[in-house]
Parts: sequence; C-alpha cells; structure tokens
Amino acid sequence: MEIVLDHLTKKFPGRGKNRQEVIAVNDFTFTIPDGKLAALLGPSGCGKSTTLNMICGLLAPTSGEIFFGDNNVTALPPEERGVGMVFQNYALYPHMTVEQNIRFPLENFRGKDRLSKEAMKERVLEAAKLVHIEELLERKPSELSGGQQQRVAIARSLVKLPKVLLLDEPLSNLDARLRLATREEIRRIQQETRITTVFVTHDQDEAMSISDLIVVMKEGVLQQVDSPQKVYDDPANQFVAQFLGTPPINMFDGELKDGQLWIAGEPVLRVAEGESVPEGPVSVGIRPEGFILLEGGAMHNEMVRPEITGRDVSVIFRNKAAKTDVVRSIISAEDWNHISGGEVHFDLKPAKVYLFAPESGERIRLKLEPLAQSAPQPETKAQTAAVPGLAEETAEDTGEAETMEEKSVEEIPVSARVIPQVMALEAREQMAAAVQSASAADAGGDAPELDRMQTTFTALNADGQSAEVVLETDAVDTYIKEGEL
Ligand SMILES: Nc1ncnc2c1ncn2[C@@H]1O[C@H](COP(=O)(O)OP(=O)(O)OP(=O)(O)O)[C@@H](O)[C@H]1O
Ligand SMILES: [Mg+2]
Repeated sequence: MEIVLDHLTKKFPGRGKNRQEVIAVNDFTFTIPDGKLAALLGPSGCGKSTTLNMICGLLAPTSGEIFFGDNNVTALPPEERGVGMVFQNYALYPHMTVEQNIRFPLENFRGKDRLSKEAMKERVLEAAKLVHIEELLERKPSELSGGQQQRVAIARSLVKLPKVLLLDEPLSNLDARLRLATREEIRRIQQETRITTVFVTHDQDEAMSISDLIVVMKEGVLQQVDSPQKVYDDPANQFVAQFLGTPPINMFDGELKDGQLWIAGEPVLRVAEGESVPEGPVSVGIRPEGFILLEGGAMHNEMVRPEITGRDVSVIFRNKAAKTDVVRSIISAEDWNHISGGEVHFDLKPAKVYLFAPESGERIRLKLEPLAQSAPQPETKAQTAAVPGLAEETAEDTGEAETMEEKSVEEIPVSARVIPQVMALEAREQMAAAVQSASAADAGGDAPELDRMQTTFTALNADGQSAEVVLETDAVDTYIKEGEL
C-alpha cells in the first residue's frame, strides 16, 4: 500500500503566557512506495511521532491530506485504516499471557469480520511464528526479556494483517546488542510480509541500515527524502550532512578564491572549468574517507595520533580551520604510512567534499577537482580497482560499454569471498567468468549493511551457499538491483 502525504501540517495551540503555537509538522509532502520501509529520522522533538500519529489516525492534521493508495484516509478513524502500530512506549497488558496480548486486537472485530476461536488461534500462532516467539505464548510479559516483549508488541501489531505498519522508536528500550538483532528482525519481517512500513528513529545508524527511504526532519521541517546512500552521498544541506555518518563529517572554515577552494590559507581543490565561482567564505564538510594520505599533499596538518583497527586506520589530526578540536580521517590499512608525529599531509577526494553557505547551511553545488588534474590519485585508484574494473574490462572486450555494464549488474552471482579494497585477481577472474555463465535467478541477497566506504552483503545463491561480499560503496548502485547481485 503506497502512502502519500500531501502538504500535511500539524499545529498545536500554545499554552501559558506567550501562547506561542508549535508547528510540529510543517507542510510535509512525500510518498512512501508500496512495500517499502521508510525511516522518519531526526532529533528529539522534530515531529516524528506527530507525523506517525497522523498517518495512523490518532491525530487529525491541521491541514493537508493522507492517502493510502488512491484512498483519501484523512478523515477515517484509526480502526478503519488497516494500520498496525507499535508505540514509542509499547505497553503489553501485564495480566494477560503473550497469547492473549497478541489476540486482543482480533477480539474487537465485529459483524462479518468476527473471527471464530480457531481462526483467532491460528492467526495468533502465525504472528508469533513470524517474530519467533511461538514457544512463549503461555508466559506473562513480566517473564520475558525486553527483546521478547518487543516482539510480542510487533506480533500484536501484525495480527490484524495490516496494510501499513507503523513503528515508533520500537527499539528504544533495548540494549545495544538486542537493538541490533531486533532491527535485523524487523527488516526480515518487513521483507517477508512486504507491508509498507514507517519506522521512527533518531538513530542514523538504524535508519541507514534498515530502510529503503530516509525522511530527514528538523524542527518540523522536511530536510531530505531519499535512499540511505543518496542521503549520505548527496546531502541537501549541512544539517543532513552532519546528522548522517559515523564518524561524522569533519567541518572546516574555507574560502572560495581564484577558482580554488582554500582551507587554512592553502588551496586544496580547484573548481571545475565552466563553473561560476561565488567568491567568499564557505563551510566545508569532508567525510572521514575523503582524505588521501600523501606526502606533499595539498592539506598540511598537525598529526595527533593514529588509531589502528585492522581494516582501517583512523588518522586523528588538527587543522586550524577545523570547526572541531581534532579531525578524524579514515585511511585503508594498506595506505597507512606509520606517521607518529609532526605533520601529516592529505589530498582530498572531490566527491567527499561538500560546500555549504556559512549562515544558512544550504548546499553550494560546485564541481570540484584535484589541484593537479594530471597527477594520478594513488588511493582512489586502488579503491575503485575492485569491482568497477570488472565492468570496464568486460565492456572493452565487447565494445558495448553501456549495455554490457547494464547487463553485468544482473548477472554477477556470488561465488567468492571478496576481499575489501583490492579484490584478489583470481576472484575478479572468477567473477568475470561467472558473468558469462550465470543468470540473474542464481543470486539473491540480504539487505546490505551500509558503511562509509564499503558495503557488506551477505549474499545467497540458488544452492543456499552464502558469502560475505564487500563492495566499494560507490559501486553498489551499479551492482545491486532489486535485491540481486
Ligand atoms: N499534544 C501536544 N501539544 C503541544 N505540543 C505538542 C504536542 N505533542 C507534541 N508537541 C510538540 O510537537 C513537537 C514534535 O513532537 P513529536 O512528539 O512529534 O516529536 P518527536 O520527533 O517524536 O520527538 P522524540 O524523538 O522525542 O519522540 C515537539 O515540539 C512537541 O513538544
Ligand atoms: Mg516521538
């Protein structure tokens, strides 16, 4: 069921002396496509619960309309909307068993919808199985762990077979580990049932990892509605850029001057030919993975310390134009040079550098390029050599660049464990061979786990073999379509 919000607004009357009214939701217009999971993401008080409560019918909008498919549901009471809801403080009835809790919504069915005892029992069991709690039906909520209670609440919202599932911070009461497991579970259930789902969270990591669509909100105002990767790669403004990403984007005071971007009195990138450059101060955001460690690189900084984590090295440094005390960059372990003190130099990856207007934080869209265009960028090359190289090679072989690239997207099966950063040559050859032989039906995959630079997939082929695949995030869109790899 597609959900459409059309100029939806909710104002709450002010209380007390100055009676300032609150615009909790200000003119929201967006569509959640059928069968997708959308996350409403934003800091506390930005209007997430208010939006959800309007979708479910508990709150009437001040203006605007809500559609489920072609149906205008704005004036319908909640019980006629066919929604299942898990509230921010989900409450199970303590005196009822798990079974009775899940069955409760079914007992309100009247008239022709009324279900027999047997039918109810069956539906309860089905919902319980979906969330893996069928063994717990006889217990009382006090005899369950937090995660199990959570699942009961989800089962209760699913038992009516809703067309729309609304979840308001359903994981907020769980510890970190359980949170992780339960969010995977929610994603699995959503993918199995294909119920259009709206998931409220203020945790960007959670939103990135499970949703098809992220709706970023701030103080009742929509900031951006896009896929997780798009929101990360192409933020609409500084707020969005800073809200998404761990470690967060690094902010600097910069300047546009003489067709170049300057940070701390040094030119670091140049503006591409043909762009008109508005000279003056800018805020510069650089993603941690946007730094290329390079002796004699454009940006000179004071080394603080490296943090070595195995796959990556976090190089912590200071720069006098940084808006934070220290800056965190992430360098792949093989590019690490064991610098322990003194100066550290970086070149920048233009695609990871964002410019914003200093006052408003609005994005300034300018195409940036390395200062010395002809010099190869060692790290960039190593990183993109992984998967895109395959498409290029295949394309060159046949001379049909575009069509081959399209085709290879659907035909790469999962046949090898792919080593991050630089894919082993054999693996590339294997995959290239497999491209010729395999069909799209051979491969399916789990929801990808998004990372800054790499994306990890657990992928499954038709024989039930699974493999962990790590792709350069930049290449993911090219290689994954409709859950196939
Ligand atoms: N019944 C109400 N009367 C007046 N103001 C309200 C009412 N309900 C919510 N608000 C205000 O509307 C704004 C949005 O509230 P909402 O509950 O939607 O935020 P939220 O994004 O869900 O936050 P949280 O992450 O803390 O749950 C807040 O400023 C809140 O104080
Ligand atoms: Mg809320």
